[in-house]
Amino acid sequence: MHALVVVSHPDSQSLTHAVARSFAEGVAASGEHTTEIADIAAEGFQPAFNQADRAAYFLQEPLPSDILREQERIDRADALVLVYPVYWWSFPGQLKGWIDRVFSNGWAYDEAPDGTLGKRLGRLAVHLIGIGGADGGTYARRGYDKAMRTQIDHGIFDFCGARVVTSEFLLDVNGQAGASHIVTARALGGHAFAGAASGGVDLPEVAELPS
Ligand SMILES: Cc1cc2nc3c(=O)[nH]c(=O)nc-3n(C[C@H](O)[C@H](O)[C@H](O)COP(=O)(O)O)c2cc1C
Repeated sequence: MHALVVVSHPDSQSLTHAVARSFAEGVAASGEHTTEIADIAAEGFQPAFNQADRAAYFLQEPLPSDILREQERIDRADALVLVYPVYWWSFPGQLKGWIDRVFSNGWAYDEAPDGTLGKRLGRLAVHLIGIGGADGGTYARRGYDKAMRTQIDHGIFDFCGARVVTSEFLLDVNGQAGASHIVTARALGGHAFAGAASGGVDLPEVAELPS
């Protein structure tokens, strides 16, 4: 199995990158699996949905070459892992733009003229790890975790038929939690393909959102 780990953060020394590397190490240590880390900040991915993307959305023009490259590396993967810092209770702008542009009509889903929807990413397992500065109580009290899962897990991935296997927030990073998050990420990576045969996975207790 092959996992594509997409990380959206400008600093390769950040906790976010450390969590991404740790997840990938957990995957590799758990079996005959391979990983690729896609550092979309270092690669200079341009997130703004542009005129060429819009023409492709209406199926008038082929997709831009940078988007075809992103789709090809997702096509090579059995699992897509997104590791990102929570900015304003959501994805960072670059990762949101990556979704806007890469998850295109005709590749991620099909929208027929009569409005019927075809989900095209049914083969893909998805693992989501958001890293946030606030604590779990703040997320629970305001419903930020639920809101993000509604938008991201359901609104993006369920919409395209992809199976969200892991959906975790690693929080309170301004306290002492950073080191334990790296351990948690490795455990999550170790379980990434554990349920592949049965279609499900038991997440480790350490990854539960604090109440
Ligand atoms: C622009 C910006 C917006 C942020 N918004 C949130 C937020 O809405 N909720 C939250 O829990 N943390 C928020 N934070 C804190 C970041 O999530 C936190 O600093 C980051 O995950 C730490 O990881 P890093 O060391 O890899 O950057 C924000 C930070 C920045 C820079």
